[in-house]
Amino acid sequence: MDENDLLTLRDRIGDAHLGARLRAQVDRTLRLRGRGRGGLHFENLTFAMDSVGLILRLTGLYRLGQRNATALAVRQRSVAFPGLPPAFAGLRILHISDLHLDGYPGFGGRIAAALAGQRFDLAVLTGDFRFYDTGSYAQLGRELDALLSALACCFGVYGILGNHDFIEMAPLIEKAGVRLLLNEAAPLRVGDDTLWLVGLDDAHFYGLHDFEKALAGVPPGAPRILLVHSPEVIPEAAAHGFGLYLAGHTHGGQICLPGGFAPYVNVRCARSQMVGAWRHGQMEGYTSAGTGSSGVFARFFCPPEIVIHELQAAH
Ligand SMILES: [Fe+2]
Repeated sequence: MDENDLLTLRDRIGDAHLGARLRAQVDRTLRLRGRGRGGLHFENLTFAMDSVGLILRLTGLYRLGQRNATALAVRQRSVAFPGLPPAFAGLRILHISDLHLDGYPGFGGRIAAALAGQRFDLAVLTGDFRFYDTGSYAQLGRELDALLSALACCFGVYGILGNHDFIEMAPLIEKAGVRLLLNEAAPLRVGDDTLWLVGLDDAHFYGLHDFEKALAGVPPGAPRILLVHSPEVIPEAAAHGFGLYLAGHTHGGQICLPGGFAPYVNVRCARSQMVGAWRHGQMEGYTSAGTGSSGVFARFFCPPEIVIHELQAAH
C-alpha cells in the first residue's frame, strides 16, 4: 500500500475510523479480548490452532479434513424480501464468505471452477479474505485474481472486511475487482427501482461497524440488504429496516461432531442464527458456513458453502 492509497482511504472512511482500525490492528493486548462483540478470541491464539492441526496430523485425519474443506458445492435457495421493488424479483445473489484465500494454494481457482455454469446477478463476499494475520499479501492477490473472473455479473462484486482482514488490504482487494463497503452503501438500480446494498466494517473483533454512517445516504424506508461479517448485530439491523442480512464468520463450527454440532463457538448470537437461514421479525437472515477455512484448513461434518439466494417478493 503506498502513501496515496492511504490518503485516499483516509478521505473515504475518515480519520477516526482509519485511526481506530490501524491502532487495533497493531495492539497485541487486544488479541484475546478484541474490542467488538466476541468475548475472548481463542481463535487468535496461534498455538491453539497449531495444536488442532498437530492432533489431526497425528491421528491421520488431516488429509480427510482437507478433502472435506475443498469439496465445494453451490446451493440455491429462495428468500422472501419484504418490500422488494418489482424489478428485483428473481435477483440472484451469489454469497461467498470467509474465503481465507491464502490458506490453501489454488483455492481461488477451485472456487472459480465450482462456479462454472452458475447464473447470478450480484456477488457478495462477506469478509475474511485472508488466512494469515501477518506476512505478505502476495498470495492473497494471486488467489483473488484467479477467483474474480468467475464472479463477473451485471451488478458486480461487493465485499466487506472481516476480523481476519486488515484495512490496508482494501486497495489490493478493490484493484482485483471487489467494491468494498466500509460502513458505506451502494444503490443497485433497474429503471426507476432501487435496492440498496449496505456494508459494515467488522463488528466481531474490531467493533467498528457504524450503521448511521453507512446509512447516511440511504433514503428513509428504501429497501436495503445488509452485509456484515458476523451475525452479531441482528437486533440493530432489524431496527434499521433491513430486509435481508447476509453474514458468515462462524464457519458453522468448521470442525464439528457427527450431525454438525459445533463444540466451539466463536460468536455471540443464538445457536439458531449461527449457521444457515434464520428470521428476526420481518428481516430474513443467512449465516454462511463459509467457503474457506481458518486456523487449520480442514473441515469435519460441516462442508464449505457457496450459496445463491434468489430474491422473491414477500406476500
Ligand atoms: Fe472466517
